[in-house]
Amino acid sequence: MTKFKTRILKFSTQSRIILANDYDSREKKLVQHTIRNIETLHEYLCAIKLNFHLLLPLGKKEIIRINKTAHQHGLQTIADIKLNDIGNTNEITTKTLWDFGFDAVIVNPIMGAQSLKKIVTSAHRQDKGVIVLCHMSAPEAKASYELSVNPFPTIRIKTKLYKLFLDWAISSKSDGIIVGATYPKIIKYCKEVSGKKLDIYSPGIGTQGGDVKQVIRNGSDFLIVGRTILNSKNPASAAKRLLLADI
Ligand code: XMP
Repeated sequence: MTKFKTRILKFSTQSRIILANDYDSREKKLVQHTIRNIETLHEYLCAIKLNFHLLLPLGKKEIIRINKTAHQHGLQTIADIKLNDIGNTNEITTKTLWDFGFDAVIVNPIMGAQSLKKIVTSAHRQDKGVIVLCHMSAPEAKASYELSVNPFPTIRIKTKLYKLFLDWAISSKSDGIIVGATYPKIIKYCKEVSGKKLDIYSPGIGTQGGDVKQVIRNGSDFLIVGRTILNSKNPASAAKRLLLADI
């Protein structure tokens, strides 16, 4: 098992909730709010996810401070930048994320199987994790991630785009995949195909309509939750309720 998987699984015995720490990036006090979330919510979480939009206004020192605080509270940190570029750029980007203290990155497999494998191999050398975007949570994801594709034109085998991404995630030895909580049947399919090889991370719980019990039953290993916790009058109670719903 990769080091990232071991680290996140260790903490997931307590909770498999990952906080999507989403704020309007024009807001002041982003760092203070993030650190407060880590300090007040850590006992209900196993990791915190920072999106591209939150990272944009922050500097190196601030990001390092957030990652350090998360680690001091037992949480893994995931950079949700849906990375998708040429090999050289991917390499520099991930090295920067690791220097800043992140434990894992979310990538977009549309970059291609070879490029994906390169990121994974390089990340694992540094004990970091790679999570592959397999099927998104938004309703319109059906129109793209479920497109029929023919990866081997000479033998005319058609498959769906997300199934191809799933195969690439397995063959590249990625740590996990993202499948939206709003597509429970696809979660079930991905778990049946990948078994223990991939952890399934599901965003889209609560606000977007995904149901905790259903996605866990269908095979999700981790739940990514933002607004249901952050917009609650009492975020700690909201996180605790989600945790109890998962038992
Ligand atoms: P909410 O507020 O809906 O936030 O709980 C969900 C978080 O997850 C991100 N998100 C996704 N990330 N693939 C991803 O990689 C998805 O399909 C997806 N759907 C939502 C979103 O940006 C937010 O941080």
